Amino acid sequence: MTRVGILISGRGSNMMSLVQASRASGATYDIALVASDNPEAPGLAWAAAHDIPTYAQSPRGMPKAEYEAKIDAALRGANVEIIALAGYMRLLSDDFVARWRGRIVNIHPSLLPKYKGLDTHARAIEAGDATAGCSVHIVTEELDGGEILGQAAVPILPGDTPDTLSERVLAAEHRLYPTVLADFATL
Ligand code: GAR
Repeated sequence: MTRVGILISGRGSNMMSLVQASRASGATYDIALVASDNPEAPGLAWAAAHDIPTYAQSPRGMPKAEYEAKIDAALRGANVEIIALAGYMRLLSDDFVARWRGRIVNIHPSLLPKYKGLDTHARAIEAGDATAGCSVHIVTEELDGGEILGQAAVPILPGDTPDTLSERVLAAEHRLYPTVLADFATL
């Protein structure tokens, strides 16, 4: 079993689908740690209630390198082999990415390489796209730029707002991420 550490910043619905998949028969990974930059992240309480070790460290009031060293130590202390970013809304430094080269994956709410960064749904609607979706990719120093491991598309419907579209994309994220991570964890 590959040991996965998940980083979240908020509600953690993708983290929950990864945890649930890790407990199904035939799983190739288990969740060794859920860590957050936000001690108030609702997902942390959910993980703790589901018997998963958690770790929280606010980056406030310390240099980024010191903050990341603490996250790194927590992950290594839990013998994590792969890091899965799941709504982790902070940029990882080049140093951190280099220390975990090829072993950090992320889910992003667009069909990359379209719409890197923020406000992906508003930008897809504004552009008049017929489809939106989500991508799981390897994290490199380039924002949302690493190798794409899997994608899922959903239609953009007439009258969609960023909120209605994000709900449809999120449902696709919950199906895509566990499947892609299951394959990646066996490599
Ligand atoms: C998800 O839609 C995820 O794709 C997005 O944040 C949301 C987190 O939801 N991630 C990014 O935008 C990363 N740049 P969750 O906390 O319920 O999983």
